[in-house]
Amino acid sequence: MSPRMSARAYSLARPVAKRVIPPRWRGPLRGRLGVPGSDVVEPAPPDPQVEARARISSRYGLEPETLDGALLHDVEIEAIIAAVQARPGGSFLVFGCGNDSRLWERVNTAGRTVFLEHHPQWAGDVAASIQSEVILVSYWTQRAQWADLLDQPERLVMDLPPSVRDHQWDVVFVDGPTGFDDSTPGRMQSIFEASRLVSAGGMVFVHDCERPVEAAYSTVYLGSDRRSISVWGHALLNGYSF
Ligand SMILES: C[S@@+](CC[C@H](N)C(=O)[O-])C[C@H]1O[C@@H](n2cnc3c(N)ncnc32)[C@H](O)[C@@H]1O
Repeated sequence: MSPRMSARAYSLARPVAKRVIPPRWRGPLRGRLGVPGSDVVEPAPPDPQVEARARISSRYGLEPETLDGALLHDVEIEAIIAAVQARPGGSFLVFGCGNDSRLWERVNTAGRTVFLEHHPQWAGDVAASIQSEVILVSYWTQRAQWADLLDQPERLVMDLPPSVRDHQWDVVFVDGPTGFDDSTPGRMQSIFEASRLVSAGGMVFVHDCERPVEAAYSTVYLGSDRRSISVWGHALLNGYSF
C-alpha cells in the first residue's frame, strides 16, 4: 500500500519536486505516494531543441526533416546556414560526412556542395543518400603528432583532386576527420587545407574548437584575428572570415 501524504507535506514538497524531478517521473511518483491528482497526466514540456529546429527550418525555407539526426546544436547549425545562404549559388566544402550531410546539401541547393570523407564505407553510405559529390580522401596523420606538426605546413598538404584543389570555396566547414583520441587522424591537415582552399570573402568554420588540436591549428593557420563567429552548442564552433 502506498503511503499517503498530508496536504501540508504536499504543499511543501511540490515546488522542490517540480525543480528536481524530471516530468516523466512525476506521474509514477505521484501514484506511489498517493499524491492528490495522481491520475492527472502532465503535458510534456516543450523541447527547446525541437522548437529551435522548427524555427530554423521555417526561417531558411527547409523541410523540417532536413534537420533530423544532425548532431550539431541548433546555434551551430544556424551560424553555418546563415553563412552559406549569404552567398547564394556559392560553393561549400565540408570535411567529414555525417547525419548532417543531407542538411548541408539542401542548404546550398543553388550552389555546389562537396564532401571529403576518409572512412571508405561511411563515404559510400552517405554518397548513396545524397546527390552531392562525396570524395574519398586520406589523412596520413595521427592526432598524437599534432604538436610536432604544428609548425611544419609542408607535411600537412593533402592529396586532393583538381576539382577541389583548383577551386576557391566560399564556405568551408571542418567537422572531420575524426579527432576524439590520439589514434584518430585529427584535424591538422583539414584545418591547414581549409586555410588554402577558402576564397577571398569566404568563411571557414571549425567544429570542436574547445579541443587543443582544433584550437591550436585554427589559431596558427586561420588566425585569431579572422575569427568572427564563436558559438557554444554541443561544442565550440568558430567561424573565420577571409
Ligand atoms: C564528427 S563526425 C561529424 C558528425 C556530424 N556533424 C553529424 O551531425 O552527424 C565526422 C566524422 O565522423 C565519422 N562518422 C560520423 N558519423 C559516422 C557514422 N554514422 N558511421 C561512421 N563514421 C561516422 C566520419 O568519418 C566523419 O568524417
